Amino acid sequence: MEETWRAVDVYFEEKLATTDETMEHILKKNEEAEMPSIEVSRAHGKMLHLMAKMAKAKTILEIGTHGGFSTVWLARALPEEGRMATFEVNPKHAEMARENIESAGISAEVEVIEGEALSTLPSILEKGYPRFDFIFIDADKENNSEYLNWALKLSKKGATIIVDNVVRRGKIIEDTDEKAVPQIRDMFDQLSKDDRIETTAIQTVGQKGYDGFLMGVVK
Ligand code: DHB
Ligand code: MG
Repeated sequence: MEETWRAVDVYFEEKLATTDETMEHILKKNEEAEMPSIEVSRAHGKMLHLMAKMAKAKTILEIGTHGGFSTVWLARALPEEGRMATFEVNPKHAEMARENIESAGISAEVEVIEGEALSTLPSILEKGYPRFDFIFIDADKENNSEYLNWALKLSKKGATIIVDNVVRRGKIIEDTDEKAVPQIRDMFDQLSKDDRIETTAIQTVGQKGYDGFLMGVVK
């Protein structure tokens, strides 16, 4: 089945332009730098791009830049005066992301903020950013609940919040203490009684296997 999931993603690439030279260049650079290939899939990168367009986002926040693959997809959705801040803890990954953002021609709109996101997020508004229209959380899963709380504090009413990797091959409903699964479940527990956001989640298959996105709109 996984072979079919991958083949269908390739079919989407051919029919729906879910990739292009810039994105392939980024994936190649990240691979050459021996970064783990944990970027969102091509089709989901474009999905995030389209969601940011649907939301007419003028300001985007990303927690977990990695090599900048999703960053570039998202930043491409911004209007001319748009701004994006993306947070990355690993200096090598931040450097790769800056190079990839530069090669994509969008470095004027995007700032890569290096350091522990939980230390750098609290001062983001003081740095002159307005509250955000669209937030993508895709960093260490152990801190998802805290990232979600920051996302809620830093977003406008009506903002979109997306969280990657919330299904983990269905492990989310298993009684397991496998890496980060209990903390992802803690986030769902928090959401079950959080009246600040309306949410759903979607299970996904494809080039990156079986996982899913949480999505919500801030009340
Ligand atoms: C993995 C995938 C991700 O999308 C991510 O953000 C972190 C880890 C993984 O498959 O290990
Ligand atoms: Mg991810």
